[in-house]
Formats: sequence, C-alpha cells, structure tokens
Amino acid sequence: MSALRNSAEWKAIQAHHQEIVPVPLRKLFSSDPRRFHSYSLHFNDILFDYSKNLINNKTLPLLFDLARAVKFEKKRDAMFSGDIINTTEHRAVLHTALRKQDATAVYFDHQDVMPKIKATLSKMRHFCDDIHSGNWKGYSGKKITDIVNIGIGGSDLGPKMVSTALTPYAQADLKAHFISNADQSHLINALTHLNPETTLFIIASKTFSTLETMTNANSAKHWFMQQAPDKAAIKKHFIAISTHAENVTTFGIDKANMFEFWDWVGGRYSLWSSIGLSIALYIGMDNFEALLDGAFDADQHFHTTPLEENIPVVMALLGIWYNNFFDADTHAILPYAQDLDFFADYFQQGDMESNGKNTDFDGNQVDYSTGPIIWGQPGTNGQHAFYQLMHQGTKLIPCDFLAPAQSHYDLPEHHDILLSNFLAQPEALMHGKNATEVEKDLQNNKEATKVLISSKVCVGNKPSNSFLFKKLTPKTLGSLIAFYEHKIFTQGVIWNINSFDQMGVELGKVLAKVILPELKNDKIIDSHDSSTNGLINAYKQLR
Ligand code: F6P
Repeated sequence: MSALRNSAEWKAIQAHHQEIVPVPLRKLFSSDPRRFHSYSLHFNDILFDYSKNLINNKTLPLLFDLARAVKFEKKRDAMFSGDIINTTEHRAVLHTALRKQDATAVYFDHQDVMPKIKATLSKMRHFCDDIHSGNWKGYSGKKITDIVNIGIGGSDLGPKMVSTALTPYAQADLKAHFISNADQSHLINALTHLNPETTLFIIASKTFSTLETMTNANSAKHWFMQQAPDKAAIKKHFIAISTHAENVTTFGIDKANMFEFWDWVGGRYSLWSSIGLSIALYIGMDNFEALLDGAFDADQHFHTTPLEENIPVVMALLGIWYNNFFDADTHAILPYAQDLDFFADYFQQGDMESNGKNTDFDGNQVDYSTGPIIWGQPGTNGQHAFYQLMHQGTKLIPCDFLAPAQSHYDLPEHHDILLSNFLAQPEALMHGKNATEVEKDLQNNKEATKVLISSKVCVGNKPSNSFLFKKLTPKTLGSLIAFYEHKIFTQGVIWNINSFDQMGVELGKVLAKVILPELKNDKIIDSHDSSTNGLINAYKQLR
C-alpha cells in the first residue's frame, strides 16, 4: 500500500467519511445558520462560497492535516523559488515569475529570470502599439485588421479562452482567429474570410515542431504566398512565439519577428508568456498586464495565506475529498457567463494533462485515484443539456458555479435571469425535493401515481462551490485562472505526482508518425493489430 493511503492522516479522513455520509447537507444548513459565513472566503472582488459541500467542522482540518503531512507548504515554496520540480523533464516551473509585479529577483540556474521577462513584455508592448497605431503595415501598406493565432493545446486554448472571455475589451478594429485542428476545414473556414494584405499570422508553439501547428502554419504560408508579391512580404505577416529559435528560422520567420519564452514555462501555463501575444493584441497591452496583475495577486494569496483561508488549497482539498473518498470521477466547471465559453475546455487540458498520471515521483504505480475528468459549459445552456443527470442521475458530480455580478452590457432582464439560475441550480442540487414535498405540490392532482411522485423526487445532497465576482475584468479573470492552476498543483502534491510533464500524449504522436507514410500509397497494410490494419485499409478504399 502507498505511503499516502497508509498514512494516519488518510485513514482519519476515511473514518470521518463514514461519519459524514449519513448527514444530509440540508440538515447541516438547518442546524447552523452561520454556515455560509463559516465556509466562504473573500479575495478582492471574488467571493468563494464552499458551504454547499458535504463537510462539517472536522472535515477540512483533517484534509489540512493531510496536506501538512505531505509537506505541501515546502513543495509550494519550491515551485515559487525555481527548484527543478518537474523532475522527469528536469525543469523548473516558473509561470508565476511571468506575472510577478514586484521588483524582487527570481533565480533559475543562478540567473535572475526577471530581466528577460520584462524585456519580452516591453517588446510585446511595442509590437501592440505598432499594430494598433497602424505603424506596422502589411505588404501593400494597409493596417492589420485580423490576427490568426496558429497553435494547439496550451499554445491555443489559453489565448482563445482569455480573448473570448475578455471580448468586451477588444480593440475596435481588430479581429482574432484561433486555428488549431489538423483538420483543414479549421484553417480553410478562417482563410476564406481573410485578406492576406491585412492579416497577421502568429505561429505559437513552444517547440515549433508540433505536427498540427506546423501543418497549419505551412498551409497558411502557402495561401499567403499565392497572393503576396514576394517572399519579403512574409516579414510583415508572420510572427513566431517559441522557445526554439532554430526551428523558427528554418520555417522562414526572421528572428526579429520572434517572441521568446523559456523551457521553465509549461505549455499549459504559457498564456502568461509571449504566447499571450494574441491576447495582448486583441484586448490591448494594458489589459494583458491587468490579467497578469490579477494572477500575481492570486499567487501571493496562494503563497502566503494560511491553508485554512487559502482559496486554491481549499478548492484542491475539497476535490481530493470527493475524488478519493466519495469516488467521484468527474468535476464540472459551470460558468454563468457566455464569455467564459472556453473556460472548462481550458482547464480540461490544464487539469487532465497535469494530473492524469498513474505513477508517482518514485516511479511507483499509484493505488489511489488521481486527476478527475474535467468538463462543463456555460449555464444556462448546460441546464438544458446535462443537468438532468446531475440532479437525478446516479453519479456524484461535484461542480463549480461561476458568475459575474455585473454584466458588461445592459439589455433589460437578461442578467437577473442568468443570475437567478446561477443561484437556483446549486440550491436545487443541495436541497433537492423529497417525496413529501413532491406530494404536496401534486395534492390537487388526483391522478398522481407513485411512479409520478418518485420520478419527481430529487434526492439533493449534491455538492458545489460558487464563485461570485463583481465583473469579468482582466484582473479578476487572471486571479480565477491562477486559483485553478494552484488547485491543480496542490492536488498533484497530495497525490505525489509530477503535474508538469505530459508523457502520455507522446505515444499517440509517435504511432501517427508510423502510420502517416503508410497512407501515402494504396498498399494493403498488415503491420498493426487487426483493428488498426482494418481501419487503415478501409480508409484507403474509401478516400
Ligand atoms: O498536448 C501536448 C502538448 O505538448 C501540450 O502540452 C502543449 O500545450 C501542446 O502539445 C502544444 O505544444 P507546442 O506549444 O510545443 O506546439
């Protein structure tokens, strides 16, 4: 048995789980009028209410004991100080340095990384100014009207999620497009509406070798060259963001048009680096810096606040509680803000690529469940799709509700309707409706059968967190993203796994490279298992 499961702290939580299961949340609320006050935290414009969780006053202290037993605080400090905590790739994990707003140094390999970060931010600012002012012109002398970010995974989802979330801050005369899929329809659908004279392609790839990104980048270059007067025009229309200068110049992008970042920035933590250039162009550099500032505030909170009042730590430990003691396999993220359309998608990569691991730091198979399946979409849409299962299905789905108190817009009624649903759903999940309450509702219906009554019962007792924040500003969004990042890190520490590599993604990539040449001719393939052979040969017949 693993040291984690064998620990006194883990066993104490297991025993406590037996005590809490029979106590319904409804009862916990009715017996404690101060429950909301006891189980909510404030951070700047953000209220975090975690009172609708299956916890009593013993639960979190036991979980804090577990965190302390695995030396969480020491490991957290090691991340902030640039220690090599990504041991398989021998890398530090310093995305927090990218958003650092104070003047202190951060050392990696005996060098302060802050001057490089500041220089890149300043280069980004100049570039944004040039594009926005029209100082930077396309090959025919026209101003840039469209930016196309070509990337995938962290080099796509972060810029796309944040740009979409902050659409109300968008520059009036600049459109942003995000192309990621190797499926050519993704690129073609965008190119159809674009004018090469006024389009800027941003090729975003940490390695500058990712197959999907390079395929899209090459096709975009080909499309561009079919219309541009000469090769020199590339200089005005192609920008690279990468850690790999050699691959960038081989592709044909001038080093002067390259924005760098560094090995110690993980792909899924890269939106804070120059990978955020499309965000900065779209919403302006001041707003991008406000995003960094919000994340920095959250970093300080995470780094210095006692565990008991530390929002990401509480989020993480509640997740451990459900994942490891209630066997909840998934966690839903449900923003009541259409602009947060890609928030759950973003943390699907952020969480599942980080904590979807089955071996621990010592190379042992874990004997406990690690990262949950993350999913979700904005309310109220989700209510008309999957909430039925959340209310009456047989699975326990802990979830996060998020909503802004103020909208950026002022159509009458919409926001109160949206927020009434944001407030009602966690209440319904928690409170449910028992048979007596259903019968009371149906008392005028003489034909009400036992089947009808039981089909209307909602057992309730479903846990959720609620984040209510003043407005979806760049600063608030920065803090929210950083909270989730630190939650993921904290859970990785408890599970003793490396949250910063992604070895599992490699196998499929390698196999695709074997299959690709086999698709170049019409020969029958028999070198794989019978299913893969059958599919390859069927593809060759059908194409
Ligand atoms: O999916 C694997 C992955 O390496 C991600 O971690 C990363 O965000 C993505 O591919 C893209 O990588 P790159 O930025 O190097 O193109």
